[in-house]
Amino acid sequence: TKEESIRPLSLERYIGQEKVKRNLQVFMEAAKMREESLDHVLLYGPPGLGKTTLAMIIAHEMNVHLRTTSGPAIERPGDLATILTTLEPGDVLFIDEVHRLQRSVEEVLYPAMEDFSIDIVIGQGSGAKSVRLDLPPFTLVGATTRAGLLSAPLRDRFGVMSRLDFYKLEELANIIMRTSELLDVGLEQDAAYEVARRARGTPRIANRLLRRVRDFAQVNRAKTVTIQEAEIALGHLEVDRLGLDQIDHRLLKTLVDKFAGGPVGIDTMAAVVGEEAETIEDVYEPYLLQIGFLQRTPRGRVVAPAAYDHFGWTETGKSNG
Ligand code: ADE
Repeated sequence: TKEESIRPLSLERYIGQEKVKRNLQVFMEAAKMREESLDHVLLYGPPGLGKTTLAMIIAHEMNVHLRTTSGPAIERPGDLATILTTLEPGDVLFIDEVHRLQRSVEEVLYPAMEDFSIDIVIGQGSGAKSVRLDLPPFTLVGATTRAGLLSAPLRDRFGVMSRLDFYKLEELANIIMRTSELLDVGLEQDAAYEVARRARGTPRIANRLLRRVRDFAQVNRAKTVTIQEAEIALGHLEVDRLGLDQIDHRLLKTLVDKFAGGPVGIDTMAAVVGEEAETIEDVYEPYLLQIGFLQRTPRGRVVAPAAYDHFGWTETGKSNG
């Protein structure tokens, strides 16, 4: 169906991440010319920027199957061995949250990535034997929110490392206009830009906001979404002009009210909003850093003047709004 193709299946239709695309295009073309599998690819960056989509595109463009799993889903070395031994030549194995692999599983992955082979143990106790098994050549595409979370030996085995950045406003607006066509929603250009402005540089959020805006328009019997309709809907969704939500607001406001704007450590920030430190670091902090609302200093995170301006707070440490 149309809904399924909201993820583009070719690099050509993938909007944004121009440097990543340009490089992948070359590496894929060269691998195809040599009739080899593509070297292993690590994709890293904040959630929702298109890591899974890129893995799908790589498989599609290389004309191979995609096998998808995740770090936490592979519980034992045998689980990974089963996957690896059932791949066909050239296949793409996509491991999301690859930084969450168990060490024992990682150890199976090293020779698999390097020599396309695994050592499996047959039998038990004194009768146990180690047998080397050849694997078909394959491409591991790993995804993680931060490359620094990976163990060094695993990181070193990726031949291609691509960092995904937040999207520019125009790119997001183009993604939203593309999705609106696929969803059959009439959407005026300035409405698309308004949704884009509030999407935190993130296509996944942009497409989610678009669906919710479509819901409001549909119930209000609006044939096309105008800027007015979009603003009303976005108001109900409680995302402000910069895409900040309740949690961002609570986080920043508490730092200002209770900690004089910082510096505070990540664990304090996590406690303040009742989220895990990792969630703050992966989901909330990157965008607040990107828009200059938070700054990292050697002594911790500090609320920046731009945040005070946006919310209308005074910089004395006491807020009024
Ligand atoms: N949908 C989600 N992400 C996209 C992207 N980067 N390009 C086109 N469509 C998308």
